[in-house]
Amino acid sequence: MIKYIGSKRTLLPRIVSLAEAIRERTGATTACDLFTGTTRVAQGLKKSGFYVTANDLASYSEVLARTYIEVDGRGAQGAGCSAKLAHLNALPGVDGYFTRTFCEEARYFQPFNGRRIDAIRAEIDRIADGDVERSILLTSLLLAADKVDSTTGLQMAYLKSWSPRSFNALNLHMPELIGGHGRALREDANTLCGAMARVDIAYVDPPYNQHSYHSNYHIWETVVRNDAPESYGIARKREDCREVKSDFNVKGRSWDAFSRLIRDLRATHLIVSFNNEGFFAYDDIVALLEEVQGEVAVVPVEFRRYVGATIGIHNLRGEKVGRVSHVTNREFLFVAGAGAGAIVRMASGVACPS
Ligand SMILES: C[S@@+](CC[C@H](N)C(=O)[O-])C[C@H]1O[C@@H](n2cnc3c(N)ncnc32)[C@H](O)[C@@H]1O
Repeated sequence: MIKYIGSKRTLLPRIVSLAEAIRERTGATTACDLFTGTTRVAQGLKKSGFYVTANDLASYSEVLARTYIEVDGRGAQGAGCSAKLAHLNALPGVDGYFTRTFCEEARYFQPFNGRRIDAIRAEIDRIADGDVERSILLTSLLLAADKVDSTTGLQMAYLKSWSPRSFNALNLHMPELIGGHGRALREDANTLCGAMARVDIAYVDPPYNQHSYHSNYHIWETVVRNDAPESYGIARKREDCREVKSDFNVKGRSWDAFSRLIRDLRATHLIVSFNNEGFFAYDDIVALLEEVQGEVAVVPVEFRRYVGATIGIHNLRGEKVGRVSHVTNREFLFVAGAGAGAIVRMASGVACPS
């Protein structure tokens, strides 16, 4: 999976076991991951047997969700992709927007890989047979590019010296398709939850602070859209990064967006992620969930901060200018709905790897 700040890799077993405990008590069959990002949680829920709706504002997220959530891996969808991936892997590189912007004006990827990304991206649109195939091929390209980048996992900056992995040749593989059912959406979560049919379980993992995912992962957005936008600054971000900001990234708007979401959501149980570095206060979240859902229980989890945050604070020349204040943060999983306390107790045997 791609490197993604806020990804719930380590919390996944806890989240899935909470959903399974809810199922055991209520017979729940449907789940919705409203801010799906890498789709990791949606994948876990699908593997567990839920019908999953995976939603996010980002175009790259929609591509990942089509591949991992919408495609039923037990069927024939995507059968033609292996041969097409072999063809894409064999393409010679060409100079294009990606190489110029992200390998020469900036240094996120080595130019020999950038040229292949330019060639492969153009060819995907030519050879993909429909949206599903296009998503599978794009997913493969995103995963392969992520493996040879020269960043700490954010696209706000690249490393001063090439990362060791950036010397490896880009190599596309067939993504592992998952058996089961679901759908992918790209909507503002606040708009979606007003229009969506009732679900049994909603997982809510919005951005915690001012750092915009659209800016942090602007290269993936550009690869998927293939729109060659004007770019600016050392990071060569998409011009629209100046304006596109989720309400959840703006301190003055985020609580209103969050509380509207919780009130509008038609879900029997909620599982909400939040951490102690975010805009919202713990007590305010508990009070809101109690008011809307009645019963609330909380699972606290301590875990290591994102790697970029542990290696020091640097200026644009790559010089260390500050020290990191702490290397762990506290993540909370709030469970809301009838029997929340019993659900947390049922699920509490599941260990969370660090
Ligand atoms: C904390 S991340 C989710 C990480 C995800 N749970 C995972 O494990 O990969 C928050 C996500 O919310 C998305 N997002 C931000 N504002 C949104 C909105 N208004 N509606 C839907 N998605 C939004 C971002 O694109 C980002 O992927």
